[in-house]
Amino acid sequence: MPYRVRPNVLKMHPYSPGKPIEEVQRELGLTDVVKLASNENPLGPSPLAVKAVIAAAQGMNTYPDASGYKVREALAVHYGIGAEHIVLGNGSDEILNVLGQVFLDGPNDSAVMGWPSFLRYPATAHLADSQCVLVPLDKQWRHDINAMIAALTPATRLVFVANPNNPTGTLVPSSDIERLIAALPGGAVLVLDEAYYEFARDVPGYPDSLQWVKDGRPVVVTRTFSKSYGLAGIRMGYAFAPLEIVDAFNRVREPFDVNSLAQAAAIAALGDTDHLAQTLEVNSQGMHRIVSRMKELGHATVESHANFVCVETKRPSKEVADALLREGVIVRSGHVFDMPGHIRVTIGTPEEVERFLTAYKKVV
Ligand SMILES: Cc1ncc(COP(=O)(O)O)c(C=O)c1O
Repeated sequence: MPYRVRPNVLKMHPYSPGKPIEEVQRELGLTDVVKLASNENPLGPSPLAVKAVIAAAQGMNTYPDASGYKVREALAVHYGIGAEHIVLGNGSDEILNVLGQVFLDGPNDSAVMGWPSFLRYPATAHLADSQCVLVPLDKQWRHDINAMIAALTPATRLVFVANPNNPTGTLVPSSDIERLIAALPGGAVLVLDEAYYEFARDVPGYPDSLQWVKDGRPVVVTRTFSKSYGLAGIRMGYAFAPLEIVDAFNRVREPFDVNSLAQAAAIAALGDTDHLAQTLEVNSQGMHRIVSRMKELGHATVESHANFVCVETKRPSKEVADALLREGVIVRSGHVFDMPGHIRVTIGTPEEVERFLTAYKKVV
């Protein structure tokens, strides 16, 4: 090869997203396909966000506001924290990536994370050629906080906890996060990824994580408009962080990372409380329906507090996911995230949930 790609880049794997509906339609000659594979909002975006994007399109000849002032102000008011603690990103994916660049500096540094968890955390370590320490989840697929504490060393720079976790949907209670923070070695930062925050925030014991940021603890809380707010396609994530981390973050990120349409959409979506309430209601009903049907079928589910649920398939999950695909239902096979006996199903509309349940019964 005439080029020399960095060896640590070759250790990484391209992200494998859930198959797009059009691809499945084309490949299998199906017309009616439902996608329950990427934890998107089945109700679509807020109509207010769509309106705001159409209006903002008139201004897309100019660069977006690089500081995201209006979005940060709106988030600051919404969450009761100073706007100076908020950073934005082109999806929370970008924020995770920038945090990796800010904190991981070669082979003497390490990132610690529960596993299975979100596939982009190991990527931050690989890209920096740093050590990636995977701490297995416990038997109920929850973060094993004692084992994570035992895995901390003076080399630890970043600790990732997705709460709720993806792919399992499991929660870490506030008391366990508190213990983890107390055990962090000097110089280490806990990244609490709350991409599914809105689905879990009312569960007893779920942390009020912004308090740790306000108290000056070494904690970054990331969230997104991609899930409950239905804006996955326009890319808008945000994080709350101590001021020194905000400063470092702003040195690394690209100046115009969050486009003007995303900024307009986010402000409108944040104000659409009806859309969010409806989303949470549809999710809770769909979750209930899937969990109770699986119980009847004798297939265990992992206790989830997000907008997806893992089902134990009792057969290799790839076989089950492929068979569901032939029925026109796209789910995620767990083999891609080291859960080869589970599929992960995003909670859809009531109709999509019934489609999945009918197809699942036929397939198994
Ligand atoms: C736990 C978790 N974090 C972060 C993300 C990235 O979200 P986005 O980049 O769309 O904000 C996802 C998306 O699936 C996720 O599941």
